[in-house]
Amino acid sequence: MPRLKIVVLVSGGGSNFQAILDAIQGQNLEAEVVGLISNRKEAFALERARKFGVESFYIGKGNYPDIQDRDQALLQTLEALAPDLIILAGYLAILPPEVIARFKRRIINIHPSLIPNHCGPGYYGIKVHESVILSGDAMSGATTHFVDEGVDTGEVIFQETVALSEDETPLTLSNKVLSIEHKLLVYTLKAIISGDVRLGA
Ligand code: GRF
Repeated sequence: MPRLKIVVLVSGGGSNFQAILDAIQGQNLEAEVVGLISNRKEAFALERARKFGVESFYIGKGNYPDIQDRDQALLQTLEALAPDLIILAGYLAILPPEVIARFKRRIINIHPSLIPNHCGPGYYGIKVHESVILSGDAMSGATTHFVDEGVDTGEVIFQETVALSEDETPLTLSNKVLSIEHKLLVYTLKAIISGDVRLGA
């Protein structure tokens, strides 16, 4: 069985990306990260890729100021890497429709809430957890889902929940949820590799 070829898109620290690398190295996850693409030059995820020997690319406003050029560069880089699966792991740019069309049902995202709650435009990072606490929800968690043309609107794949404590703060909740994300992302990859979750249109 050939290893699942993955490209990961990031904008920040890359702890979800690291969770994938650790699972490949440790739990013989039958996958290979063939490329990392960041839209932020200073993303620490790029350093993680360098350490692990994963080919990485910066495609952002700094080297492609024109949005059409940037979208074209992203599409061409993805086509050249030819992944089976693209993972958005803290990627804060909107994917161009031509990428979504080209990789239909082959792009997944990990979101730090229980979709359809606390998601959509503007709901990312700590803002998600502030919204959960403000809402008075007793539970939060993480969601993996297929990416479609909307923001956090694609078909949900898996979710894992966590209870909020009495004195929960956005920071403590984000830490709790981030560790759930790491587990849920690897669990989702295992389900894709086993065929329990089908890729492709
Ligand atoms: C985190 O807020 C996480 O909840 C979301 O994207 C952010 C980046 O996490 N998925 P990291 O870069 O994978 O550490």
